[in-house]
Amino acid sequence: MKFFADTAEIDDIRKLAESGLLDGVTTNPSLVKKSGKDFLDVVREVASIVPGPVSAEVVAQDYDGMMREAEVLRKIAKNVAVKVPLTPDGLRTCKALSGDGTMVNVTLCFSANQALLAAKAGAAFISPFLGRLDDIGQPGIELIADIRIIYDNYDFPTEILAASIRHPIHVLEAAKLGADVMTAPPSVIWQLFKHPLTDSGLAAFTKDWESTGQRIA
Ligand code: E4P
Repeated sequence: MKFFADTAEIDDIRKLAESGLLDGVTTNPSLVKKSGKDFLDVVREVASIVPGPVSAEVVAQDYDGMMREAEVLRKIAKNVAVKVPLTPDGLRTCKALSGDGTMVNVTLCFSANQALLAAKAGAAFISPFLGRLDDIGQPGIELIADIRIIYDNYDFPTEILAASIRHPIHVLEAAKLGADVMTAPPSVIWQLFKHPLTDSGLAAFTKDWESTGQRIA
């Protein structure tokens, strides 16, 4: 499973990149607003830190506008994936960009039929939003299971990017169901490292080692 960070905070991205486990980054207009930074500067900087896909979202809602914005975004760096909404114009844009060899991430996916459409439009990634479905009382994780079946039935190469991840159990369940990628806030990614038995075990090993008076280097 690939790990993407769902953030526009440069410092957080740098720290995660140092872990060696970060495969990409996703941003959206709300995350850019939260960062208080210039959108194009953020995309440029993130794309230079992370070699994998960096999703940058268009804000126009019509085909011509999305194509104009995509043109600016995809020129920033080869690893920029243009993010488009799951609408008829968004999928038309996806089809045109994918045909040109540009990676497209189709976002705001809330049903398996929407995911089927995105795969037919040639999306590199489909982003089903788990947390937002949970928020309205629909189990988001079931959507991942349905999309996995459909994509496997037809050998669609579109990668399932589990999004709107809120906690480590979302990551675990998405991984068990075969999501190709998950994108989560940095705090959730760091939580994955943690276990109280790791902490207490390490403390005990350190104490015993110190009492031997030995050194390795
Ligand atoms: C995905 O690309 C989105 O940026 C993101 O996962 C949305 O998550 P949220 O529902 O926590 O805002």
